[in-house]
Amino acid sequence: MSDVAVVGGGIIGLSIAWRLVQRGADVTVLDGGDEGAWHVAAGMLAPGGESEHEDPALIGLMERSAALWPAYAKELEVDVGYDDTGTLSLALTADDLAERARMWTRQQLPLLRPTELRDLEPALSPRVRAGVFAPRETQVDPRKVVSALRERLGARIVAKRVEDLSDVDAPQVVVAAGCGTAALTGLPIRPVKGQVLRLRGEPGLLRHVLDAPEVYVVPRADGEVVVGATQEERTDRLVTAGGVHDLLRAALELVPGLADFELTETTVGHRPGTPDNAPLLGRLDDRVIVAAGHFRNGILLAPVTASLIAGLVLGETDPMPAGFSPRRF
Ligand code: GLY
Repeated sequence: MSDVAVVGGGIIGLSIAWRLVQRGADVTVLDGGDEGAWHVAAGMLAPGGESEHEDPALIGLMERSAALWPAYAKELEVDVGYDDTGTLSLALTADDLAERARMWTRQQLPLLRPTELRDLEPALSPRVRAGVFAPRETQVDPRKVVSALRERLGARIVAKRVEDLSDVDAPQVVVAAGCGTAALTGLPIRPVKGQVLRLRGEPGLLRHVLDAPEVYVVPRADGEVVVGATQEERTDRLVTAGGVHDLLRAALELVPGLADFELTETTVGHRPGTPDNAPLLGRLDDRVIVAAGHFRNGILLAPVTASLIAGLVLGETDPMPAGFSPRRF
């Protein structure tokens, strides 16, 4: 028996476990074996671009976590694809421009003309009407992060599918099981399906993460390009013709040169959404702590979640930041 059991071997559970180990705690991660949303996620660390409809408390948490990422990536001691080249947030149509203008004004980012955008990113389509450069919106490769965390935690990760928390033999239990948290705790977490594509081609076609209303395009240094994502209130795992068509059409409209890239992967994940789409972070009772419901921001929020929840387990982060109590619904 360990002092702390973390239920869930995704990026949130592993990050919490690792923080606890660093702080001297005796931890076991119970990994149900499913590939979590991290396996599909592009890894955009976008506190501005993902915050349009969010509450100020959540925006604050996202910004706090974004600021932690550079040091967090370094601590992992291997290349996890952390790249701070920045993001171009783009508009192709008048409707896009109207939608994005509010967000860009709030972020106080100066509007760039198409020629200025193509100076920064020559592969952009001439159809792009306007955009901004968001230097603080960065990226990381979630698969590399999870692999680094798994390596660090080693034998502390045990393959076990938990069906009921009474089967977990530990005095403190952290439930970080993504969408699976609902069945274990009764908390209102719903799966929100996302289809994501991976392309591969000559490295260097793109320099920045590109974020447009209908699609985002995330280039990795090795020539992989992640194209995402649909957002569907569905529980199935089907890759659909319509989903792939819409993503490819939008990506090629933005960057015509991607037409020559190989389509290497079509994947489906489920974001763990809550009624207000903010995470559930905190104590359920004397034994059980929850860290789930990160919706579109699980990768971004991993470092801050790990620090807060490790502190809570160790009796320090109490009270937690307001607005994320798992008992608020
Ligand atoms: N954060 C991107 C997504 O959820 O699709």
